[in-house]
Amino acid sequence: MNQKELIEKFEENFGQGEGIRLFFSPGRVNLIGEHTDYNGGHVFPAALSFGTYAVVRKRHDGLLKFASLNLPAEVTCELERLTYQDEDDWANYPKGMIDGLRAQGLPVGGAEFLFYGNIPNGAGLSSSASIEVVTAIAMRGLYGGDATNQTLAILAQKAENEFVGVNCGIMDQFAVAMGKKDHAILLDCETLSYQWVPLLLKDYELIIANTNKKRGLADSEYNARRQDCEEALRRVREHEDLESWGALSEEAFKEVIPWIKDTVLVKRARHAVTENQRTLQAVQELKMGNLKAFGRLMNASHCSLRDDYQVTGKELDALVEAAWAQPGVIGSRMTGAGFGGCTVSLVEKNEVHVFMDHVSERYTKETGLVADFYRVAIEDGARELEIW
Ligand code: GLA
Repeated sequence: MNQKELIEKFEENFGQGEGIRLFFSPGRVNLIGEHTDYNGGHVFPAALSFGTYAVVRKRHDGLLKFASLNLPAEVTCELERLTYQDEDDWANYPKGMIDGLRAQGLPVGGAEFLFYGNIPNGAGLSSSASIEVVTAIAMRGLYGGDATNQTLAILAQKAENEFVGVNCGIMDQFAVAMGKKDHAILLDCETLSYQWVPLLLKDYELIIANTNKKRGLADSEYNARRQDCEEALRRVREHEDLESWGALSEEAFKEVIPWIKDTVLVKRARHAVTENQRTLQAVQELKMGNLKAFGRLMNASHCSLRDDYQVTGKELDALVEAAWAQPGVIGSRMTGAGFGGCTVSLVEKNEVHVFMDHVSERYTKETGLVADFYRVAIEDGARELEIW
């Protein structure tokens, strides 16, 4: 869908007229640092070239109208009365976002939105953060105010937690709001200090592979892992001060294990601690150009997510193991929340076609599912696009 077609669709839907604007927010891929954001650790995501477009225009009657080219249900609601409604389905994301902006005292007003997304559905590449953040920057574009992209990311997470009821961390919203072309973001989720790190991949390329496994129990299992980590932390805090799992080295972790007293909870906390350390180390390796070492840490990340955090499942494991078996693959792991969704692999450029053929064949043989592969570009975060 090109720009001209998007504008035409908007006009078909909402009528012609002045004042049409176009905004875009990407999806994200996380390179390493999984399930560390809500544990006070570091993450290392990057913004993708695919994402969500929003064509928008002001309305002067205080109404909000949301339509999508991907999904059914056009929703109209009053700005002053935004509540979660099951039947509004996907439109609860922009509704929650706008409600959050209003609650924060930021300028909002009536508007019509036409969304179009090209993030593969249910792939765990942050289509929800993308629609939230594009809504937020579009409102800022239409009605002004000085909220930074970082502030909007924090409000988007709050909207997802409180309005939609998904207990996610800050990674996705931050990555899509703050991404930078050809860079990944090292984000300290405890302090929100961050740095952009150039993704100098030399002879290698990032390949995302989609298991196409429906993520059935993902939300409840996600919340259960969060609770495990919180419970383990609570047990340690009965004996000593500890800010978060991100505050501990692996050595220091060994000393608090006896307080946790439950093997499953120890595993959960151990993942949070070791994954944070791996993320910091991986970024050091990348900065020094040691891509193979970076890849080995990606592999170790997957093993920890599989064995300690137990969020991979048969399909993600099959896809990653098939990747590991290929020549030219220096790292492969699940990315995002897990239980389905995608993997990310670092593959030697001239092996990419063979990689896709062989991994695809082996994955289908083992699971009966067909994987999709995306050769991705790392792009800027959420922004207004010029209409020409
Ligand atoms: C989902 C959540 C993020 C993060 C990841 C796991 O994408 O939205 O906040 O917790 O899972 O790293």
